[in-house]
Amino acid sequence: MSQEINQPRLNAAIIGCGRVSIKHIRAIAKLGDRIRLCALVDNNPDAPSHLLSSCKAGGKYFKADKATLKTYIDYKEMLSAEKPDIVAIALPSGLHYQIAKDCLMAGANILLEKPMTMSNKTSRELYELAQEQGKKIAMGHIYRYFPIVSLLAEDMGNGVFGKVGHGSVVVRWGHGDDYYSQAAWRGTWKSDGGALMNQTVHALDLMCYLMQSEAVSANGTIARRFRNMEAEDTAMGVFHFANGALCQVEGTTATLPNDHEASFFINAEKANIRIGLHKGKPSYSITNTKGKNLAFRYLRRYIKQYGFSHLISVAKNPHFGIYKDLYQAITTNSNPIADGRSGYLAVDMVLGFYRSALKKNEVELPLPNEFKVEEMAKLELR
Ligand SMILES: NC(=O)c1ccc[n+]([C@@H]2O[C@H](COP(=O)([O-])OP(=O)(O)OC[C@H]3O[C@@H](n4cnc5c(N)ncnc54)[C@H](O)[C@@H]3O)[C@@H](O)[C@H]2O)c1
Repeated sequence: MSQEINQPRLNAAIIGCGRVSIKHIRAIAKLGDRIRLCALVDNNPDAPSHLLSSCKAGGKYFKADKATLKTYIDYKEMLSAEKPDIVAIALPSGLHYQIAKDCLMAGANILLEKPMTMSNKTSRELYELAQEQGKKIAMGHIYRYFPIVSLLAEDMGNGVFGKVGHGSVVVRWGHGDDYYSQAAWRGTWKSDGGALMNQTVHALDLMCYLMQSEAVSANGTIARRFRNMEAEDTAMGVFHFANGALCQVEGTTATLPNDHEASFFINAEKANIRIGLHKGKPSYSITNTKGKNLAFRYLRRYIKQYGFSHLISVAKNPHFGIYKDLYQAITTNSNPIADGRSGYLAVDMVLGFYRSALKKNEVELPLPNEFKVEEMAKLELR
């Protein structure tokens, strides 16, 4: 990747050097001509070196950057010493709000892992703070960056597919008890939530994006069937969207860990859209009223617009797409595809679903008052 004339190189720091950070490092390394990794922060002093050795990221720029990379155990110290342009927050979800707020206040743009925060009020607060500070929030909503998804959303917004009737989402993202015992925060109401808040939130965000609308009510129920954790491992429910569409959701981590599946179906007037991911293999089908599958047409259009190497990079690591998009948003003062609004709308959906499960009733969205995930501890799960 050659550095274009006058293309600024932005400094990025990552707070949290755990499981997901590997994807961040690989993305930054691939965008080395535009983004320089200046610091890694983790309160476990061994985590940064372990992360760097396990991710095997290369590239001319990244190799040189590693020589000057600083590590910190205190993120506040890092913020005042480095003054980074971008801070990626890859911390246990219960820590997102306070640390994201401190980063925005320190003048950084942020890449915030999902879910945005653990309450509807704090998610909106971060969004508003970023607006006030003139800073960008890019959310770790990776499904938006899958190949052709942005084109489908664009066409949906332009009315190409007509009205949306309904959608259906399945997320069977099995995790064993070993996953939940890896870190104390996993599967807790206070710091994580369950299959909905951690895994299915991606899919809820994608449905908002593809349907170009937002949920106005939620009716759901949750259970803990197999996993040894505090929160739910299985959730089923229905959302109403502002455009009149219904959306059915199944989200679970109780399925087998080696059989991951996520699938999305949208029934629009002029097309049936199916996007699937099974054991890492993607599938797309966009069937028009004549029964023709337009998936290859979309793929060709995507390659024409973004290039083949971009397609391969996002297919391998959607975080590449998030960083590239955030860079573009900062340098051209535009909005990232997965912006702060997408962050709070997805949290709204999960919290509406949870509250509906708690109250055993359909609830309207957005919820009128603050609702925190930890309030779900009141519900006795079966
Ligand atoms: N977008 C995605 O595809 C995706 C995938 C996985 C996880 N996530 C999200 O990313 C976040 C992190 O998940 P993970 O699986 O990497 O977690 P993890 O437990 O593996 O890593 C978290 C890291 O944060 C560090 N940490 C904890 N408290 C800290 C503090 N106060 N200061 C500095 N470091 C601290 C821990 O030592 C650990 O290294 C979660 O919010 C999760 O929902 C997103």
